[in-house]
Amino acid sequence: MTPGEITELDQLPTPALVVDLDIFDANVAAARKLMAGSGKTLRPHVKTHKTPELAKRQLGEGVKGVTCATVGEAEAMVEAGIDDVLLANEIVSLDKTERIARLAARAKVMVAVDSDLGIDRLEAAAAREQSNVDVLVDVDVGLNRCGVRDMTDLLRLTKCVLKASHLRFQGLMGYEGRLRAGAENRNGKLDQARHSLEEAKTILNKAGIEVKIVSGGGTSTLLDVLAFPVLTEIQAGTYALMEPVLDGLGLPFDVASFVIATVISRSAEVAVLDAGRKSITIDSGPPGIPFEGTVVAVNEEHTVLHTSTHLEVGMHVKLTPSKVPTTFNLHDRVWISQADGLRSVPVTARGHAD
Ligand SMILES: Cc1ncc(COP(=O)(O)O)c(C=O)c1O
Repeated sequence: MTPGEITELDQLPTPALVVDLDIFDANVAAARKLMAGSGKTLRPHVKTHKTPELAKRQLGEGVKGVTCATVGEAEAMVEAGIDDVLLANEIVSLDKTERIARLAARAKVMVAVDSDLGIDRLEAAAAREQSNVDVLVDVDVGLNRCGVRDMTDLLRLTKCVLKASHLRFQGLMGYEGRLRAGAENRNGKLDQARHSLEEAKTILNKAGIEVKIVSGGGTSTLLDVLAFPVLTEIQAGTYALMEPVLDGLGLPFDVASFVIATVISRSAEVAVLDAGRKSITIDSGPPGIPFEGTVVAVNEEHTVLHTSTHLEVGMHVKLTPSKVPTTFNLHDRVWISQADGLRSVPVTARGHAD
């Protein structure tokens, strides 16, 4: 950081969520370079930051659309002008299938399904709205979350989608989940994910069904799934802001988001900061600190450190979130930091859990 930026960051009302835009842009460029020549497309998962302004910076050559986890995220992205969204999640409730159908009248919308109810409700809503919804049948490739586990169900559900006049079957989805460096049986889990998707595609092809899209993968598996011939698109999201827990995977990305906090109390080795769990999550451990010391507590509004570093009341400290998506979800706005200054943009889909 240049001294000028430090002065500006010091003026922020804390706790403040900040993105270093140069690092963000470098991560986006590095991902684009990795994808180049792979024959696959990147479909960035925007649940990471829920911020249309950042999502738009991830689009470009070979990156035409985004991935969302909630209908609210998809609505925020379409409202901001992004016209191609994948809801990589099962949507079954009546209000949400209605909202999807309405959104599909304005943009290209693709949704994952793994149930008859999901298909029936999407079709009924799309028929009412006179829109068309693209569909991927979700396969459980080892995460034990959503997705069909039985290949008979896969064929049956795919045929239901093909029969529905307002749904357009596009292919398959299979997300293997986060596999950090050193995860137990990491290679075995990756093999299982690849095999499940290949098997699913073969079964559909043998039934004469064309599979145009196979979507999966995340930041932790990006380098691995690039070598999966079966995948056509990768849903990585965290790559753009990065997290320390993803170190050790050989990824060409650096941490780009921080929470700035103020020292509000200092005594002996104790320093207390004005940022706690309501502004930085501890989902993957305590926040990182940029000096020697130990985080001994993260309360609602306070983080307590033990450190011998020179820290005085009123000084600012740059904390690194252990988990980016849940930290962004705590903030109404994010400060975008560039050499020429700071500006804030809304985290538009923050809190849109529906
Ligand atoms: C279905 C799905 N796809 C992609 C991702 C993106 O993963 P990451 O943010 O680690 O890149 C996630 C994250 O949880 C996910 O749930």
